[in-house]
Amino acid sequence: MRGRDVISILEFTRRELETIFEEADRMLEVAKRGADVLRGKIMATAFFEPSTRTKLSFQAAMLRLGGSYVDLPPEHLSSRAKGESLADTIRMLDAYADVIVVRHRAEGVAKFAAEIADAPVINGGDGTRGHPTQAMVDLYTIRRELGRLDKLVVGVLGDLKYGRAAKSFVLGISKFEPEKLYLISPQILRPREDLLEYLSEAGVEHEVVEDLRSVLPELDVLYVTRIQRERFPDPLEYERVKGSYRVTADILAEVKDELIVLHPLPRVDELDFSVDSTRHARYFVQASYGVPLRMALLKLVLVGG
Ligand code: CP
Repeated sequence: MRGRDVISILEFTRRELETIFEEADRMLEVAKRGADVLRGKIMATAFFEPSTRTKLSFQAAMLRLGGSYVDLPPEHLSSRAKGESLADTIRMLDAYADVIVVRHRAEGVAKFAAEIADAPVINGGDGTRGHPTQAMVDLYTIRRELGRLDKLVVGVLGDLKYGRAAKSFVLGISKFEPEKLYLISPQILRPREDLLEYLSEAGVEHEVVEDLRSVLPELDVLYVTRIQRERFPDPLEYERVKGSYRVTADILAEVKDELIVLHPLPRVDELDFSVDSTRHARYFVQASYGVPLRMALLKLVLVGG
């Protein structure tokens, strides 16, 4: 994987994902004592959209491995404010760093950056299209918490139209052998046809439903996502759908013992605080796995296996 761009989860085979997860297992230990495997390497983080987890866990991962990072400031404080093109900005990051992590509101920017830069480019989220490293974190969490990624009944709840984390997760889990995938959303946020066509062609048993309660007792994994307010072209459309689903501790009363509840975070009102103290909550441990997983990815991309 040395020198490889990370643009879409679809570019990774099951075997390659397993290699990343095995490396992440080793990184769990390495993270405690630190290492210098990336000493002398520099990562550039270029986030044109807000982030807490993705940016900071990439930066922490780099520091844990002895590397360092430079961070492009918000657009109003960089030379983008003077009219510099995105392409020239990427050229500068390429000159200063060994790997570039980019997040942008526009779809396709990570791919565009990868075409310009010689250094590997990692997609930290582009528009509604993809968030491949989040999907890796999600899959790694399931593997750690349930011990397997195959033969699971998985429910993905929320904004399946605009949510890039949900979409990448669905594509990621389809690399394994889910027993069944439930795509649960209000009608207006149902997944796009291209995703459903992909699942059909990949032979993944799936069903689009609106009612969480009807499928909840079957689930091994419930992946909750927020409504992506910032991606609605029409604010009225958001107003119509906001608050339309909410997971609380009460509705988890009849679920399987081993059910785990995941969420890429941040949450707004779709995942009640009451779930935090149930045995099913795994979303904070999921976020913590962002560091070893991204340590593994940076090591594999920058120095190889
Ligand atoms: N899960 C995720 O991408 O979180 P941030 O937006 O905080 O990076």
